[in-house]
Amino acid sequence: MNFNILAVGDVVGACGIRYLESNLRRIKKKYGADLIIVNGENSADANGISRRSAISIFDAGADVITGGNHSLRCKDVYSLYESESRLLLPANISPVPFGNGHVIIETSFGRVLVVNVLGQIYMNPCESPFYAVERILKSEHGNYDLAVADIHAEATSEKLAFLRYFSDRFQVIFGTHTHVQTADEMVFGSCGYITDLGMCGAEDSILGTVAQRVVDKLVKRTPERFELADGKCVLRGALFTIDSDSKKTLDVKRIFEAE
Ligand SMILES: [Fe+2]
Ligand SMILES: [Fe+2]
Repeated sequence: MNFNILAVGDVVGACGIRYLESNLRRIKKKYGADLIIVNGENSADANGISRRSAISIFDAGADVITGGNHSLRCKDVYSLYESESRLLLPANISPVPFGNGHVIIETSFGRVLVVNVLGQIYMNPCESPFYAVERILKSEHGNYDLAVADIHAEATSEKLAFLRYFSDRFQVIFGTHTHVQTADEMVFGSCGYITDLGMCGAEDSILGTVAQRVVDKLVKRTPERFELADGKCVLRGALFTIDSDSKKTLDVKRIFEAE
C-alpha cells in the first residue's frame, strides 16, 4: 500500500480560496491523496492568513495548514493558533507566546509529523531553521512514523541544504514562499523533495498580485500598494508517494491544475 501526500503552494487571496473550495476535494480524489497540506500564509485578502481564510482552507479539505513570514499579519487569527493545532506557525518565527511549529496527526499510515520552518537568507531575522528542526525532532523522538517539512524560504541554496542535512530523517521536504514552482522534484535517498511548490492564485498576475503594480514599482520606482489579482486561478503543488512498508518515498510528481 502506498500513502499519498498532496502539498499545495501558497494560497493567494480570495481567488485561491475560491478555487480550493470548489476543487480541492476533486483534486484529492483525482490523485488519491491521503493527506493534504496547504500553505496558507497569503490566503487573506489583506495578505497574511485570517481566521476566516484559515477556516475556509480547512473546510475545503486541508488536513494541515502551514505558514510563513506573513503568518502574523492578521491579528484575528492569533486565537486560532492557540485552539487549532493543525494550523502551524513557523517554528523559528520571532518568539511569540502562542502557536505550534509542528503537529503530529493520525492518518491511515500512522502518525505523521508535519514541521514548518522559515529560512534565514533574504528573509527577516529568525533562529536557524536547522537548529529549530533539530529541537523538534529530539522532543518528538519516538512519537511519529513519518516526517514532513515545509521550509518557507527565499534562497534555493538554503532549501537544498535543508534537504541534504535532513534527508535521512524526513520522508518529505518541500519548499514554499517564492510562489514560483521549481522543476527539480526528486527522490533524494528516500526523501521526496521539491525546492518550491508554487502557488494557488490568479494566473494573470505576478506572484498572485496585479502585475502592472509590480511592473510600475520596479520600472518607475513609484511607491505602489500591491493588490491581489483575480480571474482564472491555477493551483500548483506536488504529490509525494510513500511506500507504507518501507516508509520510503517512491515518487514525487509536480501538480498543476487550472480552472
Ligand atoms: Fe507566500
Ligand atoms: Fe512567504
